[in-house]
Amino acid sequence: MISCSNNPTKSSEEVVLENIHNRKSVRQYTSEPVSDEHIQTLLKAAMAAPSAVNYQPWRFVVVTERAQLDAMAEILPYARMLRQAPLAVIVCGETLWFEGKENMYWQQDCSAATQNLLLAAEALGLGAVWTGVYPDPDRTAQLSAFLGLPETVKPLCAIPIGHPAGEDKPKDKWKPENIHYGKW
Ligand SMILES: Cc1cc2nc3c(=O)[nH]c(=O)nc-3n(C[C@H](O)[C@H](O)[C@H](O)COP(=O)(O)O)c2cc1C
Repeated sequence: MISCSNNPTKSSEEVVLENIHNRKSVRQYTSEPVSDEHIQTLLKAAMAAPSAVNYQPWRFVVVTERAQLDAMAEILPYARMLRQAPLAVIVCGETLWFEGKENMYWQQDCSAATQNLLLAAEALGLGAVWTGVYPDPDRTAQLSAFLGLPETVKPLCAIPIGHPAGEDKPKDKWKPENIHYGKW
């Protein structure tokens, strides 16, 4: 059993699995800013995700300016918590593949990057929530224009991030009835 350097009483497996199971959507934040070091850690975790043929189509827009966060809260009806969050990361995807073809996998790749970022936020004691943008046409068009995204880059989601203000708990989602062994 490998002991974890952060917590010698727990194995690295226990630490990793605990982090996965403790992740939860956090929608209330204190006014404390997120440090540049933590922002870097979140983005590094996001970029460690798997992607089809290792294409890494993810692009990130990091927003910390209050006026910009408030303006995005107006564009995204289910991301009003951006008004409170000191940070947002917009996970975007390059939709152009090799030789000008369409990249079929950008949503999967960027979803993997998003989950990595959410897990890193949990590990750092930060609170975050995935708020959907693509494929809603209005949200996608308005946010793309607001952020000045290139034509081929689409915003998958906006992630408000901050230091948690409440005591959110993870939900138990274990449902054995959703598993089929062998065949359905
Ligand atoms: C594709 C996607 C879109 C989501 N959009 C929103 C959203 O717009 N606003 C919001 O508050 N939460 C949003 N969520 C978060 C879900 O509501 C949340 O993950 C779900 O309720 C399960 O809770 P948990 O994250 O705490 O496990 C979204 C999650 C996903 C995966």
